[in-house]
Amino acid sequence: MLRTHTCGELTIQNAGQEVNLCGWVQRSRDMGGLTFVDLRDRYGITQLVFNMEVNPVLCLEARKLGREFVISAKGLVAERSNKNPKLPTGEIEINMTSFEILNASKIPPFTIEDNTDGGEELRMKYRYLDLRRNINRKNLELRHKMAIATRNYMNDQGFIEIETPVLIKSTPEGARDFVVPSRMNPNQFYALPQSPQTFKQLLMIAGFDRYFQLVKCFRDEDLRADRQPEFTQIDCEMSFITQEDILNTFENLAKHLFKVVKDLEIGNFPRISYDLAMQEYGSDKPDIRFGMKLFELNDLVKGKGFKVFDEAGLVVGLNAEGCAEYTRKQLDDLTEWVKRPQIGASGLVYIRCNMDGTVKSSVDKFYSSSDLTSILETFNAKPGDLVLVLAGKKESTQKAAGELRLEMGRRLGLMDPAVFKPLWVINFPLLEFDEETNRYYAKHHPFTSPVPEDIQLLESNPGAVRANAYDLVINGVEIGGGSIRIHNKELQKKMFQILSFTEEDAQEQFGFLMTAFEYGAPPHGGIAFGFDRWCTIFGGGESIRDFMAFPKNNSGRDVMIDTPAKISTVQLKELNIKLVN
Ligand code: AMO
Repeated sequence: MLRTHTCGELTIQNAGQEVNLCGWVQRSRDMGGLTFVDLRDRYGITQLVFNMEVNPVLCLEARKLGREFVISAKGLVAERSNKNPKLPTGEIEINMTSFEILNASKIPPFTIEDNTDGGEELRMKYRYLDLRRNINRKNLELRHKMAIATRNYMNDQGFIEIETPVLIKSTPEGARDFVVPSRMNPNQFYALPQSPQTFKQLLMIAGFDRYFQLVKCFRDEDLRADRQPEFTQIDCEMSFITQEDILNTFENLAKHLFKVVKDLEIGNFPRISYDLAMQEYGSDKPDIRFGMKLFELNDLVKGKGFKVFDEAGLVVGLNAEGCAEYTRKQLDDLTEWVKRPQIGASGLVYIRCNMDGTVKSSVDKFYSSSDLTSILETFNAKPGDLVLVLAGKKESTQKAAGELRLEMGRRLGLMDPAVFKPLWVINFPLLEFDEETNRYYAKHHPFTSPVPEDIQLLESNPGAVRANAYDLVINGVEIGGGSIRIHNKELQKKMFQILSFTEEDAQEQFGFLMTAFEYGAPPHGGIAFGFDRWCTIFGGGESIRDFMAFPKNNSGRDVMIDTPAKISTVQLKELNIKLVN
C-alpha cells in the first residue's frame, strides 16, 4: 500500500506515529525555515511540514511542488502549535521524512477551491478537475447514498433489479428518440429507450411481480435545469396491486430516503387531484411550502363594465401578503414580468389593502370600494396585503397565475430549500387534445389505464376520462410519475385508436405487447422517479447537472470529450449512411 491513512483521518491520537499519505497538493507556503504543504484527497486535507534545519535537501525539493502534483509522503504525526479548528485534521501536522512525486501537474485552468474562479464552460471541459472540488464530490457522494438506500429498501420489499435493453425500437409517442444505425441491418435503426416502460410490463407478464431498476433513459428534448438528454430513473413495477398499494409502497420509499439521506421524519404525504392543483396552484406540480392559493374571481368581477374581465374565461388572483407597500416601479416590473412570452399574461391588475384600511386598485374606475372589499375578503386579505389579478383564457391564465405565485414566493423568500413538502397529485386526465394536430395525446403514456368508471366515456367524451395515474411532487418539482396499466388487449387497442394510430401502426409498433396481453397478463402498475432530480432536491441544488458526474451542456454537448462528433467515411459506409451535406 502506498498509503497507511487518508488525508482526512489523522487526529491527536495518532501523534508520534509514522504514516504514509497520498494525495494532491492543494497549496504550499514557504515560511523561511519551514515549508507547509496542504495535501488533499477525497477524505480531507492534512498539513505536511518540511523543515529546512532538519532536512534541507527534502525542504528544497518540496519547494518545487506545484498545485495538483500528486505525491506519496512519509513522516511523523505531530501536534500542531497553531491548531485549525475548522479542519478535522487541524490538531496535527506531519513532519516529513521523505516524499515521492507520483505525477506532476500542469497549473490547473481554474482553482480547485469551493469558490473557484472557473466558469461553467471551462469547468465542464476539465470536469475531472472540477470533480476534485468539495461541492461536486459531496454531490456524488449523496447520489451514491441515495442509490444504495434505494436498492436496500427495494430489496427489503421483495423487488428484484432486472436490466432491460438499451438498443430498442423507435416509437412516435413521447419525446424524440435518439437513434442508432444498425450495421448488420442496413437502413434500419435501433432507438435508445426513453424509459423501459414496455419491458417492465413484459416482466410483469413474465411473472416477476416486483421489479425495479436504476436505469439510464434517453430523450431528445429541449434541455433545462431539470432535464438532461440522458438521465437516470428509479423505475418500478408491481403486479396484483391497486393504486393505493403503489402510493403506499413508494411513499414509504420516499420516507426511507428522507430518513437515511436527510435524517428527516416526514409525515404522510397529502394528496390532491389534478383539477384542484390547477385551480389552487395553477400547476400540476404545486410547491406547497407556502400557501398563497389562487382564487377564481369570475362571479365577483364580471358585469361591471371592465371589458378585460368581462371577456375573460378566467379571472384569477392571489394574495401577496405584506406587499401593499410595493412602489409603482415594483408593480410595473411585475407587470412586465407577467407579460414576458414565457408567462404570456396580457396584463396585471392590483388591489392594495392599505395599512390605514383604505383600498386602492388599478381598476378603481370600474369597481366600487365595496366590490373591491368583497374581492379582498375572498383572500382574507389584511391591511398591508396586495392582491394581484390576471385574466384571460382559462388554461393559460391558470398557468400564468401559477408562475406569478411562484415568483412572489421566490421574491418573498418563502421557498426554503431546507424545508421539504412532498405530495401526490392524482386523478390526471387520461388525454390531452392538441389543437394544432387536431388529435388526442396520452397525458402520461398510451399504456395508462382509465379509471374504471370513466371507461364508458372513452367514445363519447374522451377529454373527460380520468387516468389511473399519479405524480410525486416535492417542493414544486415532479420527482416521479406512474400509473395503473391497461392489461387487456381490447382496451389497449381502443386506446391506440383514440390516439389516432391506425390498426397497422399499432400492430407494427406495439404488436409484441398486445400479443403478450393474450398470454395471461396480470393486472399491474408502477412508477418511475427522476433519480437525478431527487438527488438535486435533497442536495439543495439548482441544476441536475451538478449531481451527474459527466453531464451534457444545454446544447446536449459533452464539451470534455467533444461530442456529438463526426464519424469516419468508412464507418458511414459500413452503416450504409449518406450524409446530406
Ligand atoms: P415520466 O416520463 O413521467 O414517466 O418520467 C419519470 C420521471 O423521470 C424524470 N425525467 C427526467 N429527469 C431528467 N431529465 C429528463 N429529461 C427527464 N424526463 C423525465 C422526471 C419524471 O417524473 N415510464 C414512465 C413511468 C411509469 O409510468 O412508470 C415514465 O418514464 O422526474
